[in-house]
Amino acid sequence: MKIDFYGHACVGVSGSKKILIDPYLSGNPSASLTAEQAAADYLLVTHGHGDHLGDAVEIAKRTGAQVVAMVELANWFGKQGVEALGMNLGGSYTFADGFKVKLVPAWHSSHLPDGSAVGLPVGFIFWLDGLCFYHAGDTALFGDMKQVIAPHGLDWAFLPIGDFYTMGPDDALIAAEWLNAKNYLPIHYNTFPLLQQNAAQFKQRLEDKLPGAKCHVLQPGEHTEL
Ligand code: NI
Ligand code: MN
Repeated sequence: MKIDFYGHACVGVSGSKKILIDPYLSGNPSASLTAEQAAADYLLVTHGHGDHLGDAVEIAKRTGAQVVAMVELANWFGKQGVEALGMNLGGSYTFADGFKVKLVPAWHSSHLPDGSAVGLPVGFIFWLDGLCFYHAGDTALFGDMKQVIAPHGLDWAFLPIGDFYTMGPDDALIAAEWLNAKNYLPIHYNTFPLLQQNAAQFKQRLEDKLPGAKCHVLQPGEHTEL
């Protein structure tokens, strides 16, 4: 199994299936992949902001990947000619091949590049090959990470640390403590000058605070094997 960081909030998880989340590649100064190179069986999109929706329509059309999103955003995909599975908060779904996904809250906003509003932003919990992953999307710190999300038993949590639009490192450290995941991957930082953060320092603080937890700092284009 492999976890790829493609820059910003775009993460790939590859096992028996390839899961791609928030494929913001075109126009992303930190992207390590082009939209033409992207591969996916499942495409999870947390919200409509351009730095998350990215090239999702093009990639879904080319690869035939199954898109999963909040129902209003899924309906928008439908208008672009991409059939997406539209779900809502708290709901989970298991596909015939065993891949399971659940939508959880994210405290943020959501609109499309054309300005239209497309439902609430979400985070995703998903299960692949016996491991449980959480992609927080864009979010503030919120207490339900501890009460609602942690009880799923997370092997991995992908957390924004960029600050300004999302949690910064201090709040992400509290999130990590509450989520009690085995592994963390910081995302949504250093893409733009406003999001400049020291990920090595975040890793040090996290591993000092949470013995037994591992924080994996990946540069765009790097991956870690499980
Ligand atoms: Ni956003
Ligand atoms: Mn964002």
